[in-house]
Amino acid sequence: MIKISLADEYRVKDPSLAPIGKTQIEWAEAHMPVLRLIAKRLEKLKPFKGLRIAMCMHVTKETAVLAKALLSGGAEIWMSASNPLSTQDDVAAALAEMGVHVFAWRGMSKEQYYKAIGMLISSQPDVTMDDGADLTSTIHMLFYGILNEETRYAKEMLRDWDVKSIERILGGTEETTTGVLRLKALERNGKLLYPIVAVNDSLTKYLFDNRYGCGQSTLDGIMRATNILLAGKNVVVCGYGWVGRGIAQRARGMGANVIVVEVDPIKALEAIYDGFRVMSMREAARIGDIFITATGNRDVIRKEHFLLMKDGAVLANAGHFNVEISVPDLEEISVSKRSVRPTVDEYRLRDGKKLYLIAEGRLVNLVSAEGHPSEVMDMSFANQALAVEYLVKNKGKLKKKVYRLPYKIDERIARLKLKSLGVKIERLTKEQKEYLESWRLGT
Ligand code: NAD
Ligand code: ADE
Repeated sequence: MIKISLADEYRVKDPSLAPIGKTQIEWAEAHMPVLRLIAKRLEKLKPFKGLRIAMCMHVTKETAVLAKALLSGGAEIWMSASNPLSTQDDVAAALAEMGVHVFAWRGMSKEQYYKAIGMLISSQPDVTMDDGADLTSTIHMLFYGILNEETRYAKEMLRDWDVKSIERILGGTEETTTGVLRLKALERNGKLLYPIVAVNDSLTKYLFDNRYGCGQSTLDGIMRATNILLAGKNVVVCGYGWVGRGIAQRARGMGANVIVVEVDPIKALEAIYDGFRVMSMREAARIGDIFITATGNRDVIRKEHFLLMKDGAVLANAGHFNVEISVPDLEEISVSKRSVRPTVDEYRLRDGKKLYLIAEGRLVNLVSAEGHPSEVMDMSFANQALAVEYLVKNKGKLKKKVYRLPYKIDERIARLKLKSLGVKIERLTKEQKEYLESWRLGT
């Protein structure tokens, strides 16, 4: 068993994987032109000199390119995984070789996961970067003296850590919808300890990463795990937010009959007018071949639904946490469970029916595949790098609130991406600009 000890500079599965990881990172970097440009500028200006950054994010080749950009800007980096199963071990090894204090490997236990977060906190960071808010929420729980199983593990790694060291944190960033929701709840309760930039809420993030990124990588994960044909299958997509609509669109592109399950009447109508069938989970449960959750909510598929499903139904989750498909319910109604393929578990119910759960109900795109393609992460992580720069530039000026990045930064990222694609767009003429700003001109 891998153990993190207080004296560790890093802890990964196998340091000898570093050369393979390095090649993977180079591959990603070649497909991330916007982040490359930003890294070049950061290297010149060194705005992060003397800054310690704690990153609790999926340890992938794309995250490594982001870490490289921050290192170029002069930062020291401590990194842990934002999911116990999403780490690419070769990349983690390469990061350690690059001088990142990385504590991550695929298949971490809850204890190891939170001890790794504890190591990040004990480094006394100036900036936190999160994907799902586990690092930030652990910091807040420790500050407010809330001790549960998770914070106890983290606390074991805190040496002579003083709660006052939280005062040095100038701000944090958050990558995903679920993390932003958790941090906004802290803000609403008046308990947020430092400013947060909700990177997820940038247009160049959620319109592309959540929609097109998940659209492709979720199906990629399901296909790599099962190798089943999507054409002609009834694919049930739960949640028609940014992630759900991307998945629905791409599943249709593969020839699936897509059914949408929603709780929001407006999104349900949108799904209908986009050409999908919409129904309740109970109705969909009877006819679905593949179920994909993308809601950020808990128990979306539960006992009452499993009992109605067809023999052989496949279950996958694209939402942040493993709570959308109720695994405890599935365990309760099953008489046996076995692994039938990498990342696929077969559950046999009392009546002999078999249901197949992918990736233990965790993010299927990162566990069964490699996450979003680098081209998409290019924009998400350009936002992350610029968010850290924004926090540094505005040190001491921001309130303890959850902020969006200014629209100008979003627009800059979009323009850089278009340029990298060799696409020119129209410019408003002086007359057009005046016309759009005038109230006098009519019929
Ligand atoms: P969103 O808020 O845009 O959409 C969520 C949708 O789910 C909403 O339309 C909501 O009405 C619906 N919903 C909530 N409860 C439901 C229920 N019980 N049944 C059916 N529908 C329900 O959020 P999003 O940006 O689409 O993100 C969804 C989840 O995916 C979040 O957990 C987010 O963090 C995660 N995410 C994952 C990845 C990834 O790489 N896998 C990437 C981005 C976001
Ligand atoms: N989230 C979704 N895809 C990702 C990737 N490739 N790297 C890091 N985080 C991700």
